[in-house]
Amino acid sequence: MEEDLFSLAAGKQPSQQAKNEAGSQAGEPQESAAPVQPGKTEEDVRNRVDYLRSELRRHNRLYYEQAEPEISDAEYDALFLELEKLEKAHPELAEPDSPTRRVGGAPLQGFNQIRHAVPMLSIDDIFEQRDAPVPDEELVEFYNKLVKALKTETVPVSVEPKIDGVALSIMYRDGRLAYAATRGDGDVGDDVTANVRTVRTVPLRLRGDDWPDYFEIRGEILMPYASFDKINAEREAAGETLFANPRNAAAGTLKQQASAVVARRGLDCTLYQLAGDDLPFTNHWESLQKAREWGFKISDQMRICRSAEEIDAYIAHWDEARRELPFPTDGVVIKVNDFGVRRQLGFTAKAPKWAVAYKFKAEQALTRLDSVSFQVGRTGAITPVANLEPVLLAGTTVRRATLHNAEQMALLDIRPGDMVYVEKGGEIIPKITGVELSQRPADSRPFEYITVCPECGTPLVKYEGEAKHYCPNQGGCRPQIIGRIIHFIRRKAMDIEGLGEETVELLYENGLVRDVADLYDLQ
Ligand code: IVH
Repeated sequence: MEEDLFSLAAGKQPSQQAKNEAGSQAGEPQESAAPVQPGKTEEDVRNRVDYLRSELRRHNRLYYEQAEPEISDAEYDALFLELEKLEKAHPELAEPDSPTRRVGGAPLQGFNQIRHAVPMLSIDDIFEQRDAPVPDEELVEFYNKLVKALKTETVPVSVEPKIDGVALSIMYRDGRLAYAATRGDGDVGDDVTANVRTVRTVPLRLRGDDWPDYFEIRGEILMPYASFDKINAEREAAGETLFANPRNAAAGTLKQQASAVVARRGLDCTLYQLAGDDLPFTNHWESLQKAREWGFKISDQMRICRSAEEIDAYIAHWDEARRELPFPTDGVVIKVNDFGVRRQLGFTAKAPKWAVAYKFKAEQALTRLDSVSFQVGRTGAITPVANLEPVLLAGTTVRRATLHNAEQMALLDIRPGDMVYVEKGGEIIPKITGVELSQRPADSRPFEYITVCPECGTPLVKYEGEAKHYCPNQGGCRPQIIGRIIHFIRRKAMDIEGLGEETVELLYENGLVRDVADLYDLQ
């Protein structure tokens, strides 16, 4: 287990030799690089530990912040492992913010509650109107209000992607991470310090020395698409339920009891606000540039705008360009830059008057419904599925969408041949949200739902309180039988090694298994 945790923890990274070479090439001083030999003094060990810690920190920065690793993952692992061994052998050298402490071994006992020194407020939303005039009226209204209230012509505002993750507040004392809490109800959140310490882009110790002795920094814990896809692929292979979207995955991960699990899930953190009354800054931009110098990850997309038109152009750009960002976004956050001006504007009962979140609409596409097919699940439940003319939506080609059940289909009056709107909401499977009636073919007829099972021909039944139709032929309907066996052998159930879906199908086709008991009679 130990080994396992280690390799998971180190995840991506950097060997001794290569790092030394890279270091010398870069002309960096080589601290005490000599490996500790038998007969080493206590001081040798301490030097070696210091050296390893500083190297690991440097490689973390190179890897995560600059995306310019100098050494391979295996090499990084070797450094990490050496440090871990030395720390184990010399407990007196332990340090809470050592790079090895990124991985918590012991599970947390529930979560303690933390009261936020400064409440974590929400901000007002402006919802994108499809086909709305440009620039958006509500946006112009927000900006004009600022101009009017401040009796000036321009009010510089920062504009940043609204990251679709989980809000987090992190406390730093004397340049070290003290604790981290979720937003909770805004006043009190969960103490997720152990888990946040495993997030590589959250500095445990700050660089430089010009940070306030005590401050709070807020941002979003997020799951990049790459991590999300990897985790869901693993979960699918293991027969586990999939995360619906990266935000759910980030939230679920942050609440994990075992921080070793968190460490390997590839979470990331972007910070967007310093909180506190006596910060040594006059504006947002300056405060975040400093935060970046201290080692925090700050949005590379942040800009300053000076008119409603500029804000609108930024929004229009990212409404499209966000598809190329490696992390999920659901809008743009607009905030007055100057802290003095923020104070002047103040708050409503629930939100600052100096900020607003512009929310993008869920991505939609219009395409033709070619046909409807029906899936029979392991319980006999029937799900109608739309076969679509392939269309590009939120970065992927969509060919199928769920139609849920007969009732839903009737409600939307969906008919094959219709042009339909497909949307990717929070769910993995896209759904059909409407029909473009203006494009309905003249000879179109209402859709008639099936009455018999598409697999075995048995008349379907509808149970009270159930939205779906069912095929009652449990013992003789192929997808139900195979579905049950596959469900039985999954990792979460019996976890039968060497038996996969395809083999089950093959065994069934050849008349070798009809139920799970047959598995045990196989020769
Ligand atoms: S600023 C008082 N900036 O969206 C201002 N929030 O709808 C605090 N969010 O609670 C928020 N990206 O969880 C801000 N660049 C960003 C953001 C951002 C995502 C989240 C955050 C906030 C919510 C507001």
